[in-house]
This record gives sequence, structure tokens and C-alpha cells, in this order.
Amino acid sequence: MIPMTPTATILLLGSGELGREFVISAKRLGCRVIACDNYAAAPAMQMADESEVFSMLDGDALAAVIERHRPDFIVPEVEAIRTEILAEHEARGTVVVPSARAAQMTMNRDAIRDMAAGDLGLTTSEYRYAESLADLRAAADELGTPFLVKPVMSSSGKGQSTVNTPGEVEAAWDYAVAGMRGDRQRVIAEKFIDFDYEITLLTVSAADGVHFCPPIGHRQERGDYRESWQPATMAPAALKRAQDMARSVVLSLGGHGIFGVEFFVKGEEVIFSELSPRPHDTGLVTLASQDYSEFDLHARAILGLPIPPIVLRGASASAVILADRDADAFRIAGLDDALARGRDGTFVDVRIFGKPSTRPYRRMGVAIARVGGGDVDAARAEAVAAAGLVRIEYEGE
Ligand SMILES: Nc1ncnc2c1ncn2[C@@H]1O[C@H](COP(=O)(O)OP(=O)(O)OP(=O)(O)O)[C@@H](O)[C@H]1O
Ligand SMILES: [Mg+2]
Repeated sequence: MIPMTPTATILLLGSGELGREFVISAKRLGCRVIACDNYAAAPAMQMADESEVFSMLDGDALAAVIERHRPDFIVPEVEAIRTEILAEHEARGTVVVPSARAAQMTMNRDAIRDMAAGDLGLTTSEYRYAESLADLRAAADELGTPFLVKPVMSSSGKGQSTVNTPGEVEAAWDYAVAGMRGDRQRVIAEKFIDFDYEITLLTVSAADGVHFCPPIGHRQERGDYRESWQPATMAPAALKRAQDMARSVVLSLGGHGIFGVEFFVKGEEVIFSELSPRPHDTGLVTLASQDYSEFDLHARAILGLPIPPIVLRGASASAVILADRDADAFRIAGLDDALARGRDGTFVDVRIFGKPSTRPYRRMGVAIARVGGGDVDAARAEAVAAAGLVRIEYEGE
């Protein structure tokens, strides 16, 4: 039984940790959420009103679920979705967040890159596409090493590697082919950028205009984020350039919601990398840093609500808690030690995602910290220390 008329009915496609926090934000505003993923009891499903387990790449199954729930909003949380079905439902009046076009374009690195570098004229790394090993060899000759190879359809670093010498081209091609999703055997070769630092600029496109969160710095390993912090120190001119680029991309993609726009910064240069038309994993830091988290902002933008000035509460950081093996029987321990680090002037908290199984490098939780004053390094140290105190105890150990 539905206890009240919901503010809106939301079909969430993807039920990971970002979806989980989004469900909490949406439910606080009175929404009803149906969480979907290809396995049961996924993190967001545990918070939602209902759940559906099916492959979101299966167009018929996706269409059937949309028909069954008739949502006001379809909110993708992952890239791997049969996006043609979203476009059909958008045409019939269901709001796809931020838009079916944004979902379609951002799941293909080539589509978004061609738009950013081509139509919008943004600065990006130099790049070539390749559909065979021979193509990739030709791209290597043109670009010169080092360069990165990424499947055009993949995420979280899957199939991605760096080619340092021409002798490594074949291995990079094979690795990309093994890690790609979808039916297109295509990779992007991107000149390696020796950046000073990289940022995520959370950009909210809402009924009352485009808003920016303070820039988030982050550190990646194996194509996945390990730590993020906010605010990232940036020259005002560089920040302005990043904001201008982010604004042009989100307005061009259309629709309302939050976007995680990724940039590399090298000296005076700001280089557009890619974006997610949804909350960004590095933005988990906003659970500590901002009065409205990236999930709160996404929910508000989607519902057409105003976005007030986004206030940073203090220098903050997040650090991930990773598993290191395959297991179904395990428990998370050490929360007492981690939380005991909180003290006057230092806020420390954890989010445990409730994933039903572990595997090597799977993100099981995150520690977040905020300190008084503007000392981002102190916040990073706190988040890393707290994350390090959370233990995954595997059964039979
Ligand atoms: N051209 C480049 N030069 C230098 N480093 C790069 C380049 N492209 C990617 N990287 C590094 O690899 C990371 C992951 O790359 P990218 O964001 O393109 O992949 P992804 O699979 O979409 O990752 P995610 O889904 O985690 O955002 C970047 O954050 C950056 O640290
Ligand atoms: Mg990325």
C-alpha cells in the first residue's frame, strides 16, 4: 500500500551506492522510487519502495518495467542501458533524466568526444578512433606514445590501458576488446596528458539555471577513484574556464539534473575529459562537504525545485573502502574505531553500501571527513585514516 500520494514516481536504472544515496534524497522529498538492477538486494534497492531485477540492456525487459510502473521520471544511474527505449518513452512524455540524448551520448565516448571537441570546440586531449589492431597501430604512429586506449563503451577503467612504447599496442588492443561492452568493437586512443591535477566539476542544470559546486580534486588508481577532496585549489581563471566549458556541455545535452564534468588541469590549460549526466563517484565527498549533497541537488533539479546557493561547510574529503577478494560471507568491522576519530572540529562518518558480495577492488563503503578551516590535506588524512580502520572480515579467515 502506498501511504500517501508521492511527490513523483521515479524509476531508478542502476542500484549501486550512488543510486542508494539518491534514493535517500528523493524519498526525503516524498518521492516513490522503484530501483532496478541485474541482481537482487543491490544497495539502492534496500532503500527503495520497490525493486525490479532484470538486465537493463534487454530492451523488452526494460520497456515492460517502464510500462508496469509508469514513472514520472526515469533516472539512469549507470551507463549500460538500452537507451533507444529511453528515447521512445521520452517521446511519449516520460521525463528521462537529464535527457535520453544525454544518456545515449555519454555511454559512447566517441559521441560525447565528437560533440565536445567538434561542435562545442572545447580543448580535449588529442585523439583517434580505431576499429582494428591495424587502425590502432596507425593511430599510434600519428599520436606518438604515451597514449591511453579506452573502449568507446566501458566505464570505471574497464579495458583501459596506457601504451608507453609501440610494442605495447597489440596488448592494449586485446585488453580493450576483452573489456568492452556493447556490440561495437571500437576504441579511442587518447594522447596521455601529464596533468598537474584533475577535477570533477559538479554542475547542476535546473529550472532556475546552471549552478556549480566548488571543484573536487581526486586521485585515481587502476581507473577508479580512491580519494576525493573539496575544494580543489584552482586558479580563479582556470575555474572560470572549466565552468564555461561545463555550462556549454550541459546546456547542449539538455535536461535537468546534476552532471559530473571531468577536467585535467596543466598550468594555465584546462582540458575537458568526459562527463557523467548523473551524480559522480568522486562527489561522494559532498555527503560531508556541502549543505546539499550532489544527491540532494540531483533530486531537486529533477523535480524542478529551486537550487539555493550551494554552501561548503568546510574542507572535506572521501576515501574508499575496498574489498580484496571474492566472497559472499563476510562482515564489515571497525566502524567503532573509524568513528572514534571524530572529535571537536573534525567530522568523520562512513557509508557502508550493503553490497551482498565482495570481489577484488569492489567498493564496499566510503569514509568521509570534514575539518575546520580550509585545510584540505588534513581532511584527506582524516578520511584515509578512517577508511583504513574499517575492516572487511571474511568468513573462515
Ligand atoms: N588522456 C589522459 N591522460 C592522462 N590521464 C588520463 C587520460 N585519460 C584518462 N586518464 C586517467 O584515467 C582516469 C579514468 O579515465 P576516464 O575518466 O576517461 O575513464 P572511465 O572509465 O570513464 O572512468 P570513470 O568511469 O571512473 O570516470 C582519469 O580520471 C585520469 O586519471
Ligand atoms: Mg572518468
